[in-house]
Amino acid sequence: MGTDWQAGGVVATGFDEYDDLPERVLGYPTVFSALRLGDTDVRTVLDYGCGPGKISLRVAEKHPVQVEAVDISPGMLEIARTRRAHPRIRYHLLTGPRLDFLADDSVDAAMCCYVLLNIGDLERIRAIVAEVHRVLRPGGRFAVLDTNPDTTGTRFSTFISGEPGVRYEAGQQRRVLLHLPGGGVLELLDHHWPRQTYVDLLTECGFRDVTTAAPLLGDVPDTEGLVPGSLLDVDQPAEATRPPFLITSGEK
Ligand SMILES: C[S@@+](CC[C@H](N)C(=O)[O-])C[C@H]1O[C@@H](n2cnc3c(N)ncnc32)[C@H](O)[C@@H]1O
Repeated sequence: MGTDWQAGGVVATGFDEYDDLPERVLGYPTVFSALRLGDTDVRTVLDYGCGPGKISLRVAEKHPVQVEAVDISPGMLEIARTRRAHPRIRYHLLTGPRLDFLADDSVDAAMCCYVLLNIGDLERIRAIVAEVHRVLRPGGRFAVLDTNPDTTGTRFSTFISGEPGVRYEAGQQRRVLLHLPGGGVLELLDHHWPRQTYVDLLTECGFRDVTTAAPLLGDVPDTEGLVPGSLLDVDQPAEATRPPFLITSGEK
């Protein structure tokens, strides 16, 4: 069995505590630009699998948009509502892949960060991607961020996903260690999905112009967080030569 997100407890509080600095520097900016969040016709953003609301809050603070944030974990949503409330974020509990509160073609952009790799069954993943496609308006963009399947086993600044030297098959479980600021470690179990699987999933569900990005530190203009004493302030962070994230995006 994989990580039990619905149970909340230590998984929810540990993930909330995790400092997502590499994601903030490398991952989210790539997602936000893939979604063209600065465009004036992007007014509603869906955060599918919002967890404790870190990315939703970031979107709402940076852009004048309405965020619809959904998750299956009551514990995660409680943290999100308590710690990351915002007048332009609505948090919703899901009981399945359906987004019944959203009409067809009603959302301008959608993202799904660190969610699909939690699911070991491609049909369940396909149901989520198809549902996102239903609610997006024509021309709306969807971005998926997961750890990069091509750099498993690399020790990044804050996490390691998979064991060094191990090759993973599609769907196989990988152990992930998130290093927490207080010195603790949160252990999770993800599923390995190859780059092509992400491209195929989006394409099969109707997205067009599907592309992938795997940014390195040298690719980002914004050095937010790269200050003395920060997690990435080391001589040779792995993030400079080994891309930690894969961002797959496409347009409806
Ligand atoms: C690793 S956390 C990521 C949270 C957030 N997206 C972030 O990156 O900070 C994964 C989240 O996905 C949620 N999740 C897992 N499976 C899901 C599903 N089938 N539908 C919706 N949310 C799901 C979990 O409850 C958890 O909050």
